[in-house]
Amino acid sequence: MAWSAKTKIELVRAAANAREGAVAPYSKFKVGAALLTRSGEIVAGANVESASYGLTCCAERVALFHALTSGKRDFVAVAVVARAPGGPMPCGACRQLLAEYAPKAKVWVADIRALRRVREFQVREILPAAFVEVPGDGR
Ligand code: THU
Repeated sequence: MAWSAKTKIELVRAAANAREGAVAPYSKFKVGAALLTRSGEIVAGANVESASYGLTCCAERVALFHALTSGKRDFVAVAVVARAPGGPMPCGACRQLLAEYAPKAKVWVADIRALRRVREFQVREILPAAFVEVPGDGR
């Protein structure tokens, strides 16, 4: 399905608004993400950092975990916004989770300074040949 320019900018704006809630005292790199479900619901989140740096959780995963634990499925797009030229690309860990729970989603990334300049990717394009299920009974 082709999403309207209005839908796209609305989701990008939701990600930009969520970015305001980022807790990024170490990197100072604030990221916002927003997921869109097929039924038109939007769930957003922002990155949260820890003094134990490795515990940091990216905006995409905060948004995805919130959406999933609110019972939402069938994601058609995810927007990610940060102060980054061309918009921020999701990290490998987030690509993995998106491949599992939002495999058909479009990925829209934008720089906070140019929200109307949106680059579009597909999840399957940014994480090809993804590991998405444990084969057999996992043993
Ligand atoms: N970060 C995200 O939230 N999403 C991305 O796509 C890239 C990285 C966060 C994690 C960390 O808080 C900060 O950006 C710097 O890596």
